[in-house]
Amino acid sequence: MPLAGRRILLVIAGGIAAYKCLELIRRLRERGVSVRCVLTKAGAHFVTPMSLAALSEQPVHEDLFALTDDFGMSHIRASREADLLVVAPATANLIAKMAHGLADDLASTLLLASDKPILLAPSMNVVMWRHPATQANLAILHGRGVLQVGPGAGELACGEEGDGRLAEVPQIIAAVEAALGGAGPLAGRRALVTSGPTVEPIDPVRYIANRSSGKQGHAIAQALQELGASVTLVSGPVHLPDPTGVTVVKVETAREMLAACQAALPADLAVCAAAVADWRVAAPSAEKTKKADGVPPPTLQMVANPDILATLAAPGPARPKLVVGFAAETENLIDHAKAKLARKGCDLIVANDVSPSSGTFGGDDNQVHLVGAGGVEAWPPLSKVLVARRLAAHLAELLKGNV
Ligand code: PMT
Repeated sequence: MPLAGRRILLVIAGGIAAYKCLELIRRLRERGVSVRCVLTKAGAHFVTPMSLAALSEQPVHEDLFALTDDFGMSHIRASREADLLVVAPATANLIAKMAHGLADDLASTLLLASDKPILLAPSMNVVMWRHPATQANLAILHGRGVLQVGPGAGELACGEEGDGRLAEVPQIIAAVEAALGGAGPLAGRRALVTSGPTVEPIDPVRYIANRSSGKQGHAIAQALQELGASVTLVSGPVHLPDPTGVTVVKVETAREMLAACQAALPADLAVCAAAVADWRVAAPSAEKTKKADGVPPPTLQMVANPDILATLAAPGPARPKLVVGFAAETENLIDHAKAKLARKGCDLIVANDVSPSSGTFGGDDNQVHLVGAGGVEAWPPLSKVLVARRLAAHLAELLKGNV
């Protein structure tokens, strides 16, 4: 039972479908999931705290400032303790608040303070659902990695027909399982991902690095985990939270990154998204290099770093079944990517333009081309989170049947 022991914070907003939460809680409890409920003011018009507390066997939380309730004031701890936040029903109003970072009640504050995956199960009138404002708000949330299940189509509580029905309980449970990595297409697979820059010392205080933020690599690690893979992320120094449910190994130099990757083998799949320094200083100084009048600036003698991607892709018993590299280029993107595919011996290259005008380094968006033996596939501009999800789904498909 993959869900047993997992902790869900269930946010119930004000929609007629709130009553279906009672069934959702029962089914999750049957699977051994701990469910803690947060009810919005509007949600309390549709379902009572008493029934939620009875079914979840835990107190129900409604007020950000409740002095009798230690949960309300410690919302950061509460959102961190859960493995997953589920919003069901997710109303147009709560979706809008989330998209724009509003935190004016307990539910919206918890959602803003959370560093855990969030799964939305929207439910609303069809016109509200289709309204460009709602769709734009959802696009913002998807770009930030928020997951969604449903809505379905059919007769709505308001009497109209169309999209906007809360997803059925079994569908929501399947989405919860997928979000927690229990039953996705990569369940049972081991994945290795590299991310971020490497830094190469010049002396104890100076180093050579690059502009990689780790956003793309970390998003890939999270997306593979969401599809059920057991993921090791080997990361250079970045200012990002660790992806949920992923083993993170922090390194600095290219040689440390290679050693950590080799220690993480065997793996079914390796994705090298790190921006690895091609060269390092041959003999870093043990002491801080001093400036002195009349002494010319030092000349740095460089030597080549090991190529991690090429090492992982080299034929042999330890080679992952699928090895994916990136190509960061400022000109002739596809030609350089094709040359890298051949030179490094990997199965696929994800080519991205990193010229300053692209904003790829450090930005939230990316436009990639997949370059493989079968040809070149151009993807539209997407958030890095969506590039990661699409890539993870693509890799899961390629691995299918490859035991
Ligand atoms: O981190 P972000 O700010 O989100 O930016 C994302 C990104 C631009 C860094 C990412 O999308 C990306 O392109 N990563 C690869 C960067 C890079 O080093 O590309 P490259 O073309 O120099 O290297 C080609 C491939 O060889 C890469 O898979 C790289 O990880 C690998 N490599 C390179 C040198 C080396 N010594 N060892 C390697 O494994």
